[in-house]
Amino acid sequence: MTDNTTAANTMWGGRFAAGPDAIMEAINASIGYDKRLYAQDIRGSRAHAAMLAAQGIIGDKDAEAIGEGLLTVLSEIEAGDFAFRTDLEDIHMNVEARLKEIIGEPAGRLHTARSRNDQVATDFRLWVRDQIDAAIGGIEALQKAFLAQAEAGADWVMPGFTHLQSAQPVTWGHHMLAYVEMLGRDAGRFRDARARMNECPLGAAALAGTSFPIDRHATAEALGFDRPSANSLDAVADRDFALEFLSAASICAMHLSRFAEELVIWSSAQFRFVRLSDGFSTGSSIMPQKRNPDAAELLRAKVGRILGATVALFTVMKGLPLAYSKDMQEDKEQVFDAADNLMLGLAAMTGMVRDMHGNRKILEEAAGAGFSTATDLADWLVRELGLPFRDAHHVTGSLVALAEKKGCDLADLSLKELQTGHEGITQDLYSVLGVHNSVASRRSYGGTAPDNVRAQTARWKEILK
Ligand code: ARG
Repeated sequence: MTDNTTAANTMWGGRFAAGPDAIMEAINASIGYDKRLYAQDIRGSRAHAAMLAAQGIIGDKDAEAIGEGLLTVLSEIEAGDFAFRTDLEDIHMNVEARLKEIIGEPAGRLHTARSRNDQVATDFRLWVRDQIDAAIGGIEALQKAFLAQAEAGADWVMPGFTHLQSAQPVTWGHHMLAYVEMLGRDAGRFRDARARMNECPLGAAALAGTSFPIDRHATAEALGFDRPSANSLDAVADRDFALEFLSAASICAMHLSRFAEELVIWSSAQFRFVRLSDGFSTGSSIMPQKRNPDAAELLRAKVGRILGATVALFTVMKGLPLAYSKDMQEDKEQVFDAADNLMLGLAAMTGMVRDMHGNRKILEEAAGAGFSTATDLADWLVRELGLPFRDAHHVTGSLVALAEKKGCDLADLSLKELQTGHEGITQDLYSVLGVHNSVASRRSYGGTAPDNVRAQTARWKEILK
């Protein structure tokens, strides 16, 4: 059913006798969310108007009125005094319509030599670019929190796991620095994406460029882009910059999720490796003893949401013929939601890591469990007795079995018992069975030794300073 009673759209309704059906208006409008682009939209429009005047395409007085009027619109929006209208579809037309109310006729000259297609592509890039900078800032803050932990516990020992089974002792600092490395690559991915996306679509107009003598280099520069995009179709038709942002956000969120999972495990009564601060724990309404790691659990879940946004936008884009299609209006909510949740997640993780208390004693006790220095024993047989590693592995396995049968640790076996594995074993072997000696010996580049941790911590502090 068409509602023919409304008036045709004032911005593009010249060829229409009647306005859109209410349902049409509802499905078409993006103002409900793209109002978040208001600052970028106004910034882009001001650059465009100034360029049009500099090129003699519009008069200086008109450009001045437009520039001033746009600042008025900006302050109205910022003050919460702006009535966003769904019938005006999106932020671009809401701003322009209000500009017209404020300055009258010159407002109609702003849209010369541009289209909403290059306008939205420009606004959205500016927005994503800001988010990239914010994400990098958030990542660096989190890296600093991990670094502080690494510095405090450079030589604390804890179990290193594979298959979540005790594998070999590692240092607390080494574990913290593993996340500093991951986050460093996350920041790098955002930087790479930023460098690639930093081309300005403005002036590509609807899809083919324009016959007006515009200066795209000037607007690109005014908006902080490295250059104008070289192909007008590509400029308005692609959203790979948003997909790169989402992909980088997904990988980063995946990293956050892994540490979140470790926190859930580590803070449990069975592990007690860490105590989360009161500020980042929650209680249970029925079980008074509970300290739940809700923030960590939510962080573990956020990756689902952020990756979901990535898949959603990929799916929107995958079959679109060039150039612009309205499908692309569906890009923004995904990116907004992913960005909001990534930023919140980074802040929450930073708070948790900054405040968490590593339980040094329990970590150390756990470090030796599960015959975690068995590899050190095998390495000793290779180093001191010249056994091939495979034979050393076999001998060590038999000693582990013996200790297991006796219900003791490797270090609790007598020398005589150790010699049942190999007669050449001497008292010296005991020195490698302790967890501190074990980690201290792993000095290979990138290994877990406390000295390595201190060197890497110093390197990262220099990078992040
Ligand atoms: N609101 C639109 C979007 O977000 C702006 C571009 C509209 N372009 C058009 N040809 N209808 O994509």
